[in-house]
Amino acid sequence: MKILVTGAAGFIGFHLCKKLLEDKHTVLGIDNINNYYDVKLKKNRLKILLGKKNFKFKKVDISDTNFVKKIYPIAKNFRIIIHLAAQAGVRYSITHPYKYIESNVKAQISILELAKKIKSFQHLIYASSSSVYGANKKTPFSINDRVDNPVSLYGASKRAGELIAQSYSRMFNINCTGLRFFSVYGPWGRPDMAAYIFTRDIFQNKSLDLFNFGRMERDFTFIDDIISGITPLIKTKKRKSNLHKIYNLGNNKPQQLLKMISLLEMLCERKAKINKKRMQLGDVRHTYANIKESKKDLKFKPKTNLKEGLEQFVNWYKEYHKIN
Ligand SMILES: NC(=O)c1ccc[n+]([C@@H]2O[C@H](COP(=O)([O-])OP(=O)(O)OC[C@H]3O[C@@H](n4cnc5c(N)ncnc54)[C@H](O)[C@@H]3O)[C@@H](O)[C@H]2O)c1
Repeated sequence: MKILVTGAAGFIGFHLCKKLLEDKHTVLGIDNINNYYDVKLKKNRLKILLGKKNFKFKKVDISDTNFVKKIYPIAKNFRIIIHLAAQAGVRYSITHPYKYIESNVKAQISILELAKKIKSFQHLIYASSSSVYGANKKTPFSINDRVDNPVSLYGASKRAGELIAQSYSRMFNINCTGLRFFSVYGPWGRPDMAAYIFTRDIFQNKSLDLFNFGRMERDFTFIDDIISGITPLIKTKKRKSNLHKIYNLGNNKPQQLLKMISLLEMLCERKAKINKKRMQLGDVRHTYANIKESKKDLKFKPKTNLKEGLEQFVNWYKEYHKIN
């Protein structure tokens, strides 16, 4: 199958492309390789993908108004798009609000316009986020809960992406699936996320900031489990009704940030210096995924516990950063 993957140089996009290529699909990856975090990390991920057969890459900005015109000639035979490109990060949305409208709202429209133009289009699978649950109190977070209580522009922009997909699926008969990912971690992970930040600070013997005085829980989900939740969707047929569906992809086992730090101390064989701080703007206290529907429809079954997942992350981190 020919599959278009956006955000291919990103953390999840890289792992997804690798898996799709192993499964003998042909992949066209696109990304604008922006500098939100270390560009070298993105380029190194791409280098691995470009070394594989059946992978092609195009550097392009999806929020560019001419995106469809540029990409349609090479994408017109692709019936599946997995759209992962986005401006991620809760904190960055406080200082760079317009980037979220460009890459999460305008780009979502570009991708749907492309899907609309492709004649035999079958399925748009796109990334949403646990951030859409915002300040919701009821846990675990269910796809049937209301999500009109965002606490960050990032969360609001991902919810906007879902609503845009809903409207296009109805108006233009486009089969769409939105996946709400919960705090994904693993090898080649993002340098702006907890596992990476804590590990870096521990190895550099720097004080690490622990917000809300450590009273924070996240439903940390290992990258391989996330990928195993995406790939079954490729084989699904076009739905006959309710063309837009949403699923949670989370571990279903929230963990205290302090627990993550103590596991990292053990794996790095060093003590962390912890600097407890107040809650940050845009943050939520906990995330916890209800995965009932994902289990039933996608056979989603996360199987990597936090210790095993962090062990794989720390091993990668040491090798990548040449730490003995
Ligand atoms: N990693 C997580 O824990 C997590 C959690 C919830 C949701 N998500 C969502 O999953 C998706 C992938 O996340 P990730 O962790 O791999 O992030 P990432 O930042 O590593 O990857 C996103 C990629 O998209 C590219 N990109 C951004 N704007 C673009 C644009 N306008 N045009 C072309 N390319 C663009 C970036 O250069 C980057 O390589 C995103 O949609 C994110 O919002 C991730």
